[in-house]
Amino acid sequence: MLVCPTKAEMRALVAGYRRGRRSLSLVPTMGYLHEGHLSLVRLAKQRADRVIVSVFVNPTQFGPNEDLDTYPRDPDRDLALLQAEGVDGVFMPTAAEMYGGMGNTHVEVPELSGILQGALRPGHFRGVATVVAKLLNLIQPDIAVFGEKDYQQLILIRQMVRDLDMPVDILGHPTVREADGVAMSSRNVRLSDEHRADAPVLNKALGAAEEAARDGPVVSDLLDLVRSTLATAESAKVESADIRDAATLAELDGRLERPAVVLLAVRFGAVLLIDQRVVGPVPDDPTGQK
Ligand code: PAJ
Repeated sequence: MLVCPTKAEMRALVAGYRRGRRSLSLVPTMGYLHEGHLSLVRLAKQRADRVIVSVFVNPTQFGPNEDLDTYPRDPDRDLALLQAEGVDGVFMPTAAEMYGGMGNTHVEVPELSGILQGALRPGHFRGVATVVAKLLNLIQPDIAVFGEKDYQQLILIRQMVRDLDMPVDILGHPTVREADGVAMSSRNVRLSDEHRADAPVLNKALGAAEEAARDGPVVSDLLDLVRSTLATAESAKVESADIRDAATLAELDGRLERPAVVLLAVRFGAVLLIDQRVVGPVPDDPTGQK
């Protein structure tokens, strides 16, 4: 496994793969890797001859009051885990290497970056889109893998790639969970014992929504069910709970008639956890031809 701290080393590595006509997949991460990230790596490995993982805590996607300085980091452990997965190359630049000499060019996906999580975190998705565009341009993978856990991020990256005709396939990977249903996240380690004990309530609310959605309920009733389930955990402060069109994130009202995504952002003390699930009505007619 080759570790590349500079863009020049990264370019040289992928140029070699291209000369050898090897297909290439990329898994972008901010490190402090867990099973969720490693599942993405395994999917990437199945789908291409060579796998590159980027490990970069991207400062431009953190707001001034967010957790950039305290974001957990452990590069040595990350490298050991990636080596054990049989990853071919790791891009691990400093912020100066990534952004040195950068002008004010950025990538904005306006319809998607200002809604939902984007409305709560101004500038966040501009930072994400810009860094992912930079990584895709630098590494030029055939495939890039992203988790459904960050659902809005996945939809936004798909839109960016379509809009800018970027020659890459974006693959989504289902959310990987702890045994008690909590979505794996680098932020989970910062939960207190009390908050960690309450954290499964997100998955519980999503499960309740999934069950209820089968009968095609009224969207606002489904949202009430989600909120009342979240309210059963004393320490959970709901920052946002939304039900949107699963493909476009457009608002929905009336009866649920097509796949929707339930998107949750819930605060436990200083730690914000997000989770999501795609839910939808089960057709009355098993042939689906109503
Ligand atoms: P990070 O939070 O490190 O996540 C890296 C990738 O792992 C993302 O695609 C994320 O959706 C996925 N992931 C995280 N937890 C997961 C889980 N429990 N199950 C499945 N996938 C999971 O997302 C980012 O970094 C950054 O925004 C990045 C895309 C790297 C740009 O800086």
